[in-house]
Amino acid sequence: MKEDPSARSGDVPVWGLAVRACHWSLAALVLAALVRDDGGPLHRWLGYAAAAVVLVRWLAGWTGALGASLHGMRPRWTATRQYAGLLLRGRAPRHPRHDPLGLWMVWLLWALVLALAVTGWMSRLDRFWGDDTLHDVHAWLADAMLAAVLLHVAGVAAMSWHWHENLPRSMLTGRKRPLDSGPGPRHGGARERDRR
Ligand code: HEM
Ligand code: HEM
Repeated sequence: MKEDPSARSGDVPVWGLAVRACHWSLAALVLAALVRDDGGPLHRWLGYAAAAVVLVRWLAGWTGALGASLHGMRPRWTATRQYAGLLLRGRAPRHPRHDPLGLWMVWLLWALVLALAVTGWMSRLDRFWGDDTLHDVHAWLADAMLAAVLLHVAGVAAMSWHWHENLPRSMLTGRKRPLDSGPGPRHGGARERDRR
């Protein structure tokens, strides 16, 4: 079997404990809420817990606790355009943490979780009794959430393949191989260090 470069010693820490704990608990809660979608007490508890995880992640991000800083996590148009161009040519550079496209997905996933919690809560208020609008919006957001999660996992799989790197494992261990080590991209693009 081929050696997985991300398993080698010398890997550097990229995801702190707070990021990893929030990521996997958020993923489990969202998937459970999508499966148990009857709007009952368990569903509502799962949804509120998912929203709480996002808020905890942001709090840790603002305080920088447990390696969770939000520094550098603002999506940027120019960086995104440049990165998308390189990606289309099979030359997307590795990034120590999120790449510019992945950043949009991260904020979309967080926003959808919070929007689902708010619309789920509002749909049960007395003033919306008999009005299906909020329920419909909630169901629409849930479909968008499912589509975003599938796209997120597909993106992770594609970039893992492109960079010969097990990204899901790095979200478990918190470590990646250094930027300027290991094999380059599959289609022969420049390594990060060659581009400097
Ligand atoms: C409901 C399911 C999921 C949700 C809501 C979700 C959400 C997120 C979020 C919000 C982040 C950003 C983490 C942060 O900076 O705090 C992230 C990153 C990441 N997620 Fe997920 N995720 C889900 C499922 C998965 C699954 C199933 C995998 C593995 C196959 C995965 C692998 C990753 C990886 C590798 C990253 C880091 C991406 C990078 O290297 O830029 N996620 N995810
Ligand atoms: C991550 C968060 C959440 C996800 C992914 C989610 C997902 C879903 C899905 C897929 C449905 C079925 C929609 C349909 O009828 O086609 C649903 C329904 C519902 N959800 Fe959520 N939800 C979340 C959070 C919440 C929260 C926080 C609440 C309330 C406090 C809530 C209350 C409801 C209610 C009342 C229904 C309607 C059930 C019915 O009568 O059909 N949800 N949700």
